[in-house]
Amino acid sequence: MKYIKEAVDYLKNKGFDAPEIGIVLGTGLGKLVDELDILVSVSYNHIPSFPTATVEFHKGKLIYGTLGGKKVMVMQGRFHLYEGYSTYDVTFPIRVMKQLGITKLLVSNAAGAINKSYKKGEIMLIDDHINLQGGSPLAFKNVAEMGERFVDMSAPYDAEMNAKIEEIAVQQNIKLQKGVYASVLGPQLETRAEYRYLDIIGADAVGMSTVPEVIVANHLNLPVAAVSVLTDECDPDNLQPINIQEIIKIAGKAEPDMITLFRELIKGL
Ligand code: HPA
Repeated sequence: MKYIKEAVDYLKNKGFDAPEIGIVLGTGLGKLVDELDILVSVSYNHIPSFPTATVEFHKGKLIYGTLGGKKVMVMQGRFHLYEGYSTYDVTFPIRVMKQLGITKLLVSNAAGAINKSYKKGEIMLIDDHINLQGGSPLAFKNVAEMGERFVDMSAPYDAEMNAKIEEIAVQQNIKLQKGVYASVLGPQLETRAEYRYLDIIGADAVGMSTVPEVIVANHLNLPVAAVSVLTDECDPDNLQPINIQEIIKIAGKAEPDMITLFRELIKGL
């Protein structure tokens, strides 16, 4: 609580006075900020108590501005468990944004397509998830002081925002898949056997983020919507080697569609 307050006070002083919507941008998906009228931008490593950005391709900035007539707060780059951060570290910014006043959270990520009818370059609206990261951001002693410990997860993604995103996709002619996102620790990609397993257990996409943030959003009663940009096809019988540069390249290609979905959603909120 003390650390959250330190970060909140610092950001309020910097001008983050009334954010309405928080946005977390995933790997290779930072360009939404080009659509903002930026009011303030601060590097993560200047914010007291904030985990410090480590992975190079993340710009690691918290940006405050207006988009579609709303005050938004954007995390350009997020923290991952695979970088050595704890589940509490990776969700700390969500708690800070909520304390600053956001009433909705939007999340994006890059993910592998498990469902064989989903193709790389497409976007998947996350409808539900499977947590395979081996931890919870709520597994700490004093969690009950901050909200319900046994958080209900029967509908973790906001149905109203999801319905709007689906409408926007139709209007804008964007092919939008919908499905279950499985989160793994990483950073290594999956083996063929692991992809087979993910398919069997009902995952449509796999990635290394998002689930901790969504759990904390639910803990905070913060409505959340999330999309995956599908960057590779995880067909175990036909698996092509993939590298992170390729993932980032495909993410960049699909990024304009993700930006359209978020921008239009925000306009209508
Ligand atoms: N697996 C895990 N994370 C990912 C993948 C994947 O295939 N693609 C993009 N992020």
